Amino acid sequence: MLLHTINEVRAQVKEWKKQGLTIGLVPTMGALHDGHLSLIKKAVEKCDRVVVSVFVNPIQFCPGEDLDKYPRTLDADNKMCDDAGVSVVFAPNPNEMYGEGQMRTNDFLTYVIPPFFYVNKLCGKSRVGHFDGVCTVVNKLFNIVQPDYAFFGQKDAQQLIIIKKMVKDLNIPVEIIPCPIVREESGLALSSRNKYLSDEDKKEALVLSKILNNINSCYKKGVTDVEALKETAYEFLNEHHELEYLEFMNQEDLEKVPQADNNTRVFIACRVGGVRLIDNILLGE
Ligand code: PAJ
Repeated sequence: MLLHTINEVRAQVKEWKKQGLTIGLVPTMGALHDGHLSLIKKAVEKCDRVVVSVFVNPIQFCPGEDLDKYPRTLDADNKMCDDAGVSVVFAPNPNEMYGEGQMRTNDFLTYVIPPFFYVNKLCGKSRVGHFDGVCTVVNKLFNIVQPDYAFFGQKDAQQLIIIKKMVKDLNIPVEIIPCPIVREESGLALSSRNKYLSDEDKKEALVLSKILNNINSCYKKGVTDVEALKETAYEFLNEHHELEYLEFMNQEDLEKVPQADNNTRVFIACRVGGVRLIDNILLGE
């Protein structure tokens, strides 16, 4: 069932709660692919009823980013959800979500601001305000859908960590279920933004997973010094790639580590053909 308003979703949720059914939420920005589908399948398996939200959230895009050209494929998304056994696809427009006038600043809108320590690094460093927008919309979705479980991909590992922190700090009664990264056979992590890549760029985009896999195999051979592991990345990089970051961090608290261990996640962001791509791997996996 495709719903566009908060009131309709609330009425449905109220009905389900009355019947004692468990509710799962999968927040997305649409243009659904097999990565999203893996979260949806897990949710359908675990919960009596599943809501998938499809909302390209304007307040998590920075000025100059791809808000206007972000792919919007609601009919196909809705069909994919139907086929997967989803009960409700919630696709509000920005006015429904934020009120008339699309407030893009915190002059008028109440924001949920995640801690600086978690935000001032990795994607948060170049995308200033991005995680404020993410936490605000996810918190709103939690309040609208009141899910027992919410499903997030490790593809956006920093986002997942920040959302877990928000849930803990604000005592939100929802259990966050992390889901593994889904990749193409080539190794490329699925992403709605892969649609921007030409065939040539798609080949060059393999650099992210190649660097991560190579670092992981060096680690498995016994190299734990982060600087030495970082060095191994350079042989893969050429003029087609613009490396934004390659960082080694404790996967629980995003603290940088000088020596890698099985709790270290390696994060990479790289521009290929002008498209910003991210990926990550847990060492030892
Ligand atoms: P979006 O990029 O559409 O992703 C929705 C969810 O799908 C996120 O939890 C993301 O980590 C997961 N996902 C995307 N690609 C994946 C892949 N290849 N493997 C596994 N999971 C994958 O992330 C967002 O939207 C937004 O920031 C949102 C949380 C919806 C808030 O607006």
